[in-house]
Amino acid sequence: MKNQRLIKPGSLKVSGRSDIPMFRALDILREVNERTAKGEDIRRMGAGQPNVGAPPEALEYAISMIKSDPRQGYTEAVGMPSLSERIAGYYKDYYGTVVNPRNIVVTTGSSGGFILSFLAAFDAHDRVAICTPTYPAYRNILTALNITPIEIETTPRTNYQPTAELLDQCGKDFEGLIINSPSNPTGTMLPPGEMEKIANWCALRGVRLVSDEAYHGITYDRKAETAVKFSESAIVLNTFSKYFAMTGWRLGWLVLPDDLTDRVKKLSENLFVSPPTISQHLAYKIFDHLDELNAYVETYRKNREILLSELPKAGFTSISNADGAFYVYADVHHLTNDSEDYCHRMLNEAKVSTTPGLDFDVTRGHGTIRICYADKTEDIVEACERLKKWQG
Ligand SMILES: Cc1ncc(COP(=O)(O)O)c(C=O)c1O
Repeated sequence: MKNQRLIKPGSLKVSGRSDIPMFRALDILREVNERTAKGEDIRRMGAGQPNVGAPPEALEYAISMIKSDPRQGYTEAVGMPSLSERIAGYYKDYYGTVVNPRNIVVTTGSSGGFILSFLAAFDAHDRVAICTPTYPAYRNILTALNITPIEIETTPRTNYQPTAELLDQCGKDFEGLIINSPSNPTGTMLPPGEMEKIANWCALRGVRLVSDEAYHGITYDRKAETAVKFSESAIVLNTFSKYFAMTGWRLGWLVLPDDLTDRVKKLSENLFVSPPTISQHLAYKIFDHLDELNAYVETYRKNREILLSELPKAGFTSISNADGAFYVYADVHHLTNDSEDYCHRMLNEAKVSTTPGLDFDVTRGHGTIRICYADKTEDIVEACERLKKWQG
């Protein structure tokens, strides 16, 4: 303690790589939670999480597993083999694709999967391309790992998605490329066939494709394609947080190419020891309840239809093609050039939370907002009424 007096508060080194921006959507979630707890009546279209939980019977199963084994010790670092088998079975049933369970690594949310797979595939100072507007954690995790994010701007012309042609034209070099279809924040999807073109583009140039498939299962007209089908070297990430409605259980998975599987296993042992055990039991069971999960998607579909018809009446006339996930991305340039202030005013005056575009696009996001429609239908209807009144 005596020596401690020699160190002036704030005088020690703090790493430069941890100097990353806050995640605005989560900051808004914290504020909305605090204000709701104090009795404020807010409609939530900010944070991107289902408003429902895992189906009750699956939850009963998880409770029974706690009762039968209160110890809930570690599992294999790559997850329980029985869960990997079930995930592989899901690839066969849903996509008609064969995945070897040995190439599946269960992770602590897909967020844990980003850390493991980025560490396994890239070195410090490698360049990894992200397509803006984009899920902000890609940029921020890459930065924290000393990997350089390279931004490629997308526009409504390509449905806010990259195309092989755009990658050709952007004139940028990189070792990795992250794609996300359906996308957070836009909800847009790659058109049929484009995933294959992008995978081939990457293969020809020695670029590692990283496909974040977090919103697969939540699509409205057609299934999304998985990169597993088109690339033997791609990293595929998925999660139990969205379609499977297990958000706080913190579980996801990776489908890895052979050259990364052992590396990720060793990283996982050392960084996380194992993914959460009780969550794995629930995930194992949830595959018996896909009908209930599909019913949740029908609610999102209804909510989406309401938004697409009501938002233009509230002045949001330029919105993304919401093909999947539970988001629309609205261009609000005609209403503000400060989306952060705009979202705060909306929260304070209309009592509706949304997320400013700056989270997703540092250059153009001052004129956009993300609207999430994962809440109950009656709340979405009420939110639209409030927005119509607020915009007058
Ligand atoms: C595109 C995308 N990927 C990954 C994640 C992280 O999800 P989790 O860590 O809960 O699996 C999210 C969360 O919102 C997301 O939107």
